[in-house]
Amino acid sequence: MNILDDLEKIKELDSEDMLGIEENFYNQLLEAKKIAEKVNVGSIESTAFSGVAILGMGGSGFTGDIIRNLTKDDISVPIEVVKSYDLPGFVNSSWLVVPVSYSGNTEETLSAVQQALSRGCNLLCVTSGGELEKIAEDNGSCIVKVPSGYQPRGAAGYLFFSTILVLKFLKIISLPDSDIEEALELIKEKCTQYRREVKTQKNYAKIIAAAIGDSFPVIYGTEGILSSVAFRWKCEINENSKTPCFWAEFPELNHNETVGWERLKGITSRFVLIVLVDKQEQERIKVRIRTTIKLIRDNFAKIIEIPVEGKSKLAKALSTMYTGDIVSVYLALLNEINPTPVKKIEILKAELAKLNEK
Ligand code: F6R
Repeated sequence: MNILDDLEKIKELDSEDMLGIEENFYNQLLEAKKIAEKVNVGSIESTAFSGVAILGMGGSGFTGDIIRNLTKDDISVPIEVVKSYDLPGFVNSSWLVVPVSYSGNTEETLSAVQQALSRGCNLLCVTSGGELEKIAEDNGSCIVKVPSGYQPRGAAGYLFFSTILVLKFLKIISLPDSDIEEALELIKEKCTQYRREVKTQKNYAKIIAAAIGDSFPVIYGTEGILSSVAFRWKCEINENSKTPCFWAEFPELNHNETVGWERLKGITSRFVLIVLVDKQEQERIKVRIRTTIKLIRDNFAKIIEIPVEGKSKLAKALSTMYTGDIVSVYLALLNEINPTPVKKIEILKAELAKLNEK
């Protein structure tokens, strides 16, 4: 039997139930909405900020990436995404700083938080606990507290959705209710279509995982929401499937990477190119995608186009991200890998923690 249809084997391999977490993504979003509605934004409610800096690494960092790309066309203040130790010099006390760290203990994020506090910035802290929760309590900062017990990347729904909704309630961004409803409906559908009981023949996520199989995946998105989503696909394939993966975005990749697919065919003939394609994309981008595929087709084992579904940016982003998340879990299981542990991340964090003891 195909391993992806063998429910007993899946249970055995996925001992911490990452697949279950993914299957429950719709409910995670509903809970995130409730969490956001209960956040006490009193201290920052009527402040006019001159910018928003969203901090966060890895699975938590996705929140900043996607919020910036979802809102950049309509927002009147800049959103800066910070993925390291230092805040940019222009972030001052008139900015809202939004540290997102699932564990609450990620050192890059905590370092930037200290800088934000010393510059007198208001904080909106998004976490399940740890040091970040303590900092928020000690400073009387606004806190979005999400449930603990998940891998950070498995809690992306809690982190991202509650953060964007709180920013909406604060009127920093505008996000129509109809977009939220559309996104939730689409995710509800996808959760049903991708669940483990749906056999491979009819399960698009299993089909894509099987098509990737033993190949080296390369993910292409388009500047904007689909670049954040392509990056998320790459990260999920790295962390869940323990598989190397590259990603790039149109149109930038046409100015460099496209030329690179010329040599090393012996190696790249085991690569699979996955292109996230939005039919509503502007014509010039569509031509770029079509022409690029023609130019580089012979360098790949196969090229898979993933059609982006939904009308609103939110529905497109969340549904395409969700497909990648669950594909990465099925890809792990197909290769008999437990998707949950991320030992190398833990080793790195432990090694850095030793520096604090000196
Ligand atoms: C692990 C994961 C990582 C973490 C990252 C930052 O599941 O997704 O990428 O998100 O190491 O840790 P947190 O999210 O706790 O700030």
